[in-house]
Parts: sequence; C-alpha cells; structure tokens
Amino acid sequence: MVFYVKQGEVPESRHTYDSKENLRREELFGEDSFEGVYSLIYHLNEPTRIRGYRTEQKQGYRLLDEPSIHRHLKTQNLEPYGDLIDGRKTILANSRVQIQIFRPEKTNQDFYRNALYEMLFFVHVGEGKLICPIGELEFRQGDYVYVPKGLMFKMEYTKDSYFLILNTMDDLKIPDRYINRYGQLKEGTPYYTRDIRHPILGKPHISEGKFNLYVEYSDRYVVEEFDRSPMDVVGWDGYLFPFAINVKSMAPIVGKLHQPPPVHETFSSKSMMVATFLPRLFDFHPRSIPISYYHNNIDVDEFLFYSSGNFMSRKGIEPGSVTLHVRGLTHGPQPGAVESSIGKDSTDEVAVMIETYDPLLLTDVGKIIDDKNYMKSWYS
Ligand SMILES: [Fe+2]
Repeated sequence: MVFYVKQGEVPESRHTYDSKENLRREELFGEDSFEGVYSLIYHLNEPTRIRGYRTEQKQGYRLLDEPSIHRHLKTQNLEPYGDLIDGRKTILANSRVQIQIFRPEKTNQDFYRNALYEMLFFVHVGEGKLICPIGELEFRQGDYVYVPKGLMFKMEYTKDSYFLILNTMDDLKIPDRYINRYGQLKEGTPYYTRDIRHPILGKPHISEGKFNLYVEYSDRYVVEEFDRSPMDVVGWDGYLFPFAINVKSMAPIVGKLHQPPPVHETFSSKSMMVATFLPRLFDFHPRSIPISYYHNNIDVDEFLFYSSGNFMSRKGIEPGSVTLHVRGLTHGPQPGAVESSIGKDSTDEVAVMIETYDPLLLTDVGKIIDDKNYMKSWYS
C-alpha cells in the first residue's frame, strides 16, 4: 500500500465503458493474484496483442558453496557492463532475495519486466527516469526507486550511473508499524506520504513499429513482440505503481543513547528489511558512545552498502563498498574506532542496510570482488 492515485481518463465505474465507439482496454495490474494491492489501467490497444514471441537464455549467476564468514566486497571494482536487461550483476543471494550491482554502459529501448521479484533500486550515482505505460518517474542520486513485481518498464540514465538493486520475491512495503489504521503514514516515522513521488502520465503513444518486452524468469527471458507502442495508456487509478523517495527527504530518528538499526528501517518484506543510515546528530548523553557496540546479529545476515560520507566504524571502506556480517560471528567497531568516536557530535554517512532472514550466499561474481583479508580486519 502506498496511497491512491488517479491520472488521465478512467470510466466512471470500474469494469464499465463510457462510449461503445471508444472502448478502452482495462487491465488489472495487481499482486497476490486478485487479493493484493492493485491498479486499474486503461489502454488504447489490447495488452495481449502479441505479434510474436521467443525465449532467450539469460546469463545467470552461481551460488557458491563458500563458508558463512564476514566479507567486504568491493563493488567499485565491477566494470560498467550491459543495460537494464543483461547488466545487473548478482553478488549475494538466497532463495528469495537477490542483491545486485548495476553499472550500465548503455541504455536499451526494449522494455523489461521482472516476473518473480519486487525490485528496489538505490541510486548511488547518476540520474535518469523510469518509463512505463502508466507514466514517467524521474530519479536522482540518493533515491530509492521501487518497481512492483510485474511492471513493464525501461530506464534512461546518465552515463556514470551506478545502482544497488535489492530484489525480493516477497511483498516489499512500508513497515506496518509506520501506518495508522486509516492507511496513512504516522507521525514520528522517518518519512511521510508527501515525500513519495509517483509516475506522471503523459499523452498516450499511438506509434506503430517493433516493441520488445523481455520478461525475466529464473533461467530465461520470454520476449514478446508488439507492433503498437505499449505506452498507450489513457488513464489509470489505484494503489500499485512504481515510486521514488530520496534519502535527503527522510528524517533520521536520534536519541539520548545509540539507536539500533530497526529505528532506521525504510522498507520491509517477509524475507528482509531495508534500513537507511542517514546524516544525523549523534546521541546527546554526555558520556554516550556514538558508535555501534559489538553484536552477533542472531537470526539475520547483515548487508551494508556504503554510499557516501565518512564511514567511522571501519577502515578500508570506500563509497561502493559492501560489508556482509553473518549471523553467529561477532562483529562491531574496528580497533580504535570506539575511542575516536567519543566526543563526535554528528555523521554525514549515507548507507543502505539489509537484514535478510535466510543466510546470504556469495555468488561467482561476488567472489571476484571479495576482499579476502576482511575477517582479520579487527585484529591489530
Ligand atoms: Fe552490525
């Protein structure tokens, strides 16, 4: 659930027509079969008007049988590659979550749809727009861009763009505890409805030609070919749509003493939670230790993507670095970090954290960028 949006022309009642001579083709775009969140979309053409189709094998990834240990992955060492369809590199995954790095080297005019995963892009570098039949959504550095499972879309972006992508098979949503019984974001939460941007619908396209849609499944694409532009929507309404929210519009929660990660939660699903560490004032107890304490994060694996600022707790970490701290093994500040944190009054860091409830496994791509000395980085 986000909130209700209506754009363009829609019939007075759902599942009806306004003019027999001017019939619109109604599509229910929804999750969880007919039970979940949905929107109703009105096309000029039948969305099933497929001139041809084929299947294509995709370049997959391999989950490795590697030990469950703390890791530092240098995603900045991955070279720009491919486009939205073939350029997303999976570095860590389990049976319900994929963590990808996307540093595209080109754009692709074909449309893409993920049949299995909700997608959450974090824009580490760059800007651009997501283009889908229900409108265009501009994004910029520091945005989270949510893409619902099953959305047809393509992206345009600047040349240096660099994204972290979190994919989950489970419904990715605003945490339940942030929402009041009327469906509104409560007071005291890190962001508000006004901060969330939705796509803006333009005029429907009536162009003819060749339009491909790559629908991604676990091991292949089904490629559908249309002869009329899928950007043919005259109106839509509902609660399911891609949206963007920028970290600069979020208000971090701070306290007298160190606040744990759930305070910084941004999105949640059954398989993971997403939190954002934002520039913030530190704790105001006169003898507070601002940096995190040691912990074993039992029951979760803890992923962190460092985007910008000064990452106080660790040496050797740069923008684009990823750390994985696994359940059962203690982790925390590196030697000297507690001492140097005392007396500091603020941080300018921006980092994305994911806690996954099933263990995250290293992939063949992740292994290439694995800093093998990380497990010993607490020893001095
Ligand atoms: Fe941690």
